[in-house]
Amino acid sequence: MESAHQLGKPELVARLRARIEAEGPIPFSTFMREALYAPNLGYYSSAPPLGARGDFYTAVSIGPLFGRFLAWQLTETWQRLGTPSPFTLIEQGAHRGQLLADLLTEIRQSSPDLLPHLQTLIIEPDPVRRTLQTATLNTIGAQPAFVSHPSDLPDNLCGCFLANELPDSFPVNRARFSGGHWRELRVGWSTTTEQFTEEEAALPPDLADLLTREAPPSIEGFTIELCPEIESWFPTLLSRFSAGHLLLFDYALTREERQCPSRAPGTLRTYHHHRTGQNPLIRIGEQDITYHVHGTRLEEIGRAFGWTAVTLEQHRAFAGMIASFLPEGEERVLSLTPADRRTLQTLVHPAFLGRAFSALSFRKAWPETAERPSVERFAR
Ligand SMILES: C[S@@+](CC[C@H](N)C(=O)[O-])C[C@H]1O[C@@H](n2cnc3c(N)ncnc32)[C@H](O)[C@@H]1O
Repeated sequence: MESAHQLGKPELVARLRARIEAEGPIPFSTFMREALYAPNLGYYSSAPPLGARGDFYTAVSIGPLFGRFLAWQLTETWQRLGTPSPFTLIEQGAHRGQLLADLLTEIRQSSPDLLPHLQTLIIEPDPVRRTLQTATLNTIGAQPAFVSHPSDLPDNLCGCFLANELPDSFPVNRARFSGGHWRELRVGWSTTTEQFTEEEAALPPDLADLLTREAPPSIEGFTIELCPEIESWFPTLLSRFSAGHLLLFDYALTREERQCPSRAPGTLRTYHHHRTGQNPLIRIGEQDITYHVHGTRLEEIGRAFGWTAVTLEQHRAFAGMIASFLPEGEERVLSLTPADRRTLQTLVHPAFLGRAFSALSFRKAWPETAERPSVERFAR
């Protein structure tokens, strides 16, 4: 049993406990939303440092090369769409704003023609993270503009949307096949052990509908994450664009992979001081909680809204961009520092981020005569 001091931030623990005592066991998504995003208390509310000084690495935290590649990809998209003006770049999940800072620095150096046409927007609901993003972008003399949610975006956008590890941080519900039935996993509180507990409850109709579409195997103990937020977030985002390119990098599984008996424990996990854990009910507000996103579902929604959807492993996405943007003998190859080369290895090596992550690429109103983006070049 975990000792009480591992429960997490006392104020957050007291809030959750009071809520459970008043309402009974709460959906896991409610618990996860509080643990990650409760104002001033949740894990992400202070935008904790990522990378060596944080709890886990991301492609952004290991150096500016990820942002430089995305700058080259952005410029190519602008050219393939016929150099439209304005051309809008949107990031969501910007954390402290480092990806945009890296990307804009590179655009200034290698694509000054694009700059006068480029409008940059961050989707960020949290005031503390907005302040940190503004501070980072101010260091390169940029002033970000913000909206809180995709529904606040203007219509008829032409441009790009970028997100690295965003939907893997959306709150999820959990379901488990138990005693011959699918049940919802909720979070309760034990007055005996003074711990949060996992509680089974009847599956509500909205989760039952999502589960029917997933058709996971009826194996005793099989556990699966369901993310209702994707169903409203992604259509809203897609519908704001008349033309453009969306690029998500994330841990993603296909529907078949999600149904595989070897996935019986589900994919929910925690990160704390670079250690992966399985218990989200401790260190509340002090550890990350994440899961593998449903790549097939994102593709289905994309296609239903008239977008072309392609998913490929991150190492293939980078192979395409390397072939286009770092052709042998060109100046850019020479401009990669030894640190850049180490970063590139981390991004593409199958044992590091290359295979664990996928690139999900969505295009709309792409000219028939234009080649597809380099990031898709080596899609199977
Ligand atoms: C795993 S971190 C990735 C951060 C950054 N993109 C990177 O790669 O270093 C997930 C980020 O998504 C943010 N996030 C989650 N839900 C969000 C939402 N609805 N709108 C904006 N940001 C969100 C979190 O606050 C957190 O900063």
